[in-house]
Amino acid sequence: MTTGSLVERAEKLREAFLAEHANVRDERSVSGIESLRLSYLGRKGTVTALLEGLRDCSKEERPLAGKAINILKQFVEGEIKSLQEQGEEWSLAAKLAEKPLDISLPVDSLVRSGGLHPVTLVRRELLAEFRKLGFTVYDGPEIDFDRYNFTSLNMPSEHPARDMQDTFYVAGSDNLLLRTHTSNIQIHCMLNEKPPLRIVAPGRVFRKDSDPTHTPMFHQIEAFVVDRNITFAHMKGVIDTFMKGVFGSNMKTRLRPSFFPFVEPGAELDLQCVQCSGKGCRLCKMTGWLEVGGCGMIHPNVFEAVEYDSEVYSGFAFGFGIDRMAMLKYKLEDLRQMFEGDYEFLGHFPLHT
Ligand code: DAH
Repeated sequence: MTTGSLVERAEKLREAFLAEHANVRDERSVSGIESLRLSYLGRKGTVTALLEGLRDCSKEERPLAGKAINILKQFVEGEIKSLQEQGEEWSLAAKLAEKPLDISLPVDSLVRSGGLHPVTLVRRELLAEFRKLGFTVYDGPEIDFDRYNFTSLNMPSEHPARDMQDTFYVAGSDNLLLRTHTSNIQIHCMLNEKPPLRIVAPGRVFRKDSDPTHTPMFHQIEAFVVDRNITFAHMKGVIDTFMKGVFGSNMKTRLRPSFFPFVEPGAELDLQCVQCSGKGCRLCKMTGWLEVGGCGMIHPNVFEAVEYDSEVYSGFAFGFGIDRMAMLKYKLEDLRQMFEGDYEFLGHFPLHT
């Protein structure tokens, strides 16, 4: 080595390295770290060259120069190593700062396909009204025994009233059936609970019917109250308040004497026509009224079937079709279209009421 002592050159190299090191760090350049390593420690690197220069220097100079170069080498190695560690963090931070991957489905198509079924919308609305009146929701089986659907509701086998409801029986069984009405929940509930009861029970029901106003599956909602001293007047008040809550305070209701085996007295429940407000139109066949359900005072035989003392307790029950309510509300003409799963039809209904 001729020009300058190796010790001086090592000192200069250290300064050069510090300057380059600062650059790489300021720019957080991951690729810069590897270039820096190669240019100082690589096979043709400057520190390597300096070490090779030791061969040519004088015996006197060699120990001191060797020590200085080794210290420089260790220093550079240490700094590169810590840069490499930092480099991993820089890469991660850079990745995180990139535009994040959008893993959601396109919102647009969701909005277009989203919506609740009209029956769901109306059921929710009806239940909300019932809750305001202090009713609790109760559920019951869709496949049920004859005993709950008929016998305990004062319709023993061979009773002609069973013919009113054309029933699906489960194959291979003569006492298991698809419930024909939600009134079966009265029995399940009363067997499980003690009065006082204020219950509302919505659900699917099944009958062998199919025409523009009947489908083999449809929805009903049943409400009943059992306590001491419950009267027909309570029933009338609850029904009227409820219907006014759903259709507005101008809604009028009407009860007409009728027969249902599980109530006595029993009545047909009519709503003032939603289309013509009672004046008479095609929808109400010029009567001004729409028949929506049945009601009455719970029959003592029903109480007996669930072992409630009918001398102590009385109660009323009413039931009506949810689908019919949805048809009235959304002015639909054919009940069947509600259950055909037609995308176009379903797309008309909102996500919320
Ligand atoms: N379950 C009857 C039906 O499906 C409707 C009904 C009538 C329910 C009178 C009642 C009632 O609770 O009291 O035809």
